[in-house]
Amino acid sequence: MISHPPRIEVSASSDAASKKLAARIAAAIRHRETEGGHYVLGLATGSTPIPLYRELIRLHREEGLSFRNVIGFNLDEYLGIPADDPNSFRTFMFEQLFDHIDLPVPNIHIPDGTIETGEIESYCAGYEAAIAAAGGIDLQILGIGRSGHIGFNEPPSPADSRTRRVTLDPVTREDAAATFGGLGNVPVEAITMGVGTILEAREIAMMAWGAGKAAIVAKALRETPSPALPASLLQNHGNVTIILDDAAATYLDR
Ligand code: GLP
Repeated sequence: MISHPPRIEVSASSDAASKKLAARIAAAIRHRETEGGHYVLGLATGSTPIPLYRELIRLHREEGLSFRNVIGFNLDEYLGIPADDPNSFRTFMFEQLFDHIDLPVPNIHIPDGTIETGEIESYCAGYEAAIAAAGGIDLQILGIGRSGHIGFNEPPSPADSRTRRVTLDPVTREDAAATFGGLGNVPVEAITMGVGTILEAREIAMMAWGAGKAAIVAKALRETPSPALPASLLQNHGNVTIILDDAAATYLDR
């Protein structure tokens, strides 16, 4: 198989970029439906995918896009906060997407952040098994953290890491402090799909918006792939699109 370096798509705004990606996702979902199959979508949280989810909701409401043949797997969840906590990724996903589309609830998979310590390892193995049973992920949506994380794969995260319990980077916790109303309220740990789990997706779309992400995006694309910068490991995948607005592309040769 020929391996391609990441494709870079730069748009004038996050809305314009998200609309393009949403249109591609809609076409892929519809195509799969005509074949009578499921489309398996890897989903992300954070502010980055919000315009994408807004456009997918619009396509559902105004253009008849159905998600009944979609199976969703979310990347990650904070450990040790209740599922209905306003800051859980479960709450985020329902508010930002699932409450507004017809994705069947049994098709939704989000790591359970309330799992007992002794059960985490087998729970994570079960999450991997569920992805495999669904036929693997067709398209994984990603953002990037300022620490260089994808999902919650903080540095260092090896290319073959799997779904597991992780400790959050101080930079990541700082970035979440405002939402949680103070650094002390930000969880210390999370469950995340591994880098290896992510790299098994048949296609990956990593989005980044704004000047605050420009430096880490450039590093992730330029530096030799290494666990010290987990997003750089995407360079080895072969079917990745990096989707940026102008500000996030500042340090790239265009
Ligand atoms: C989050 C998530 C990541 C996300 C990143 C960036 O907390 N675990 O999947 O990509 O941090 O967040 P944002 O999109 O808000 O910049």
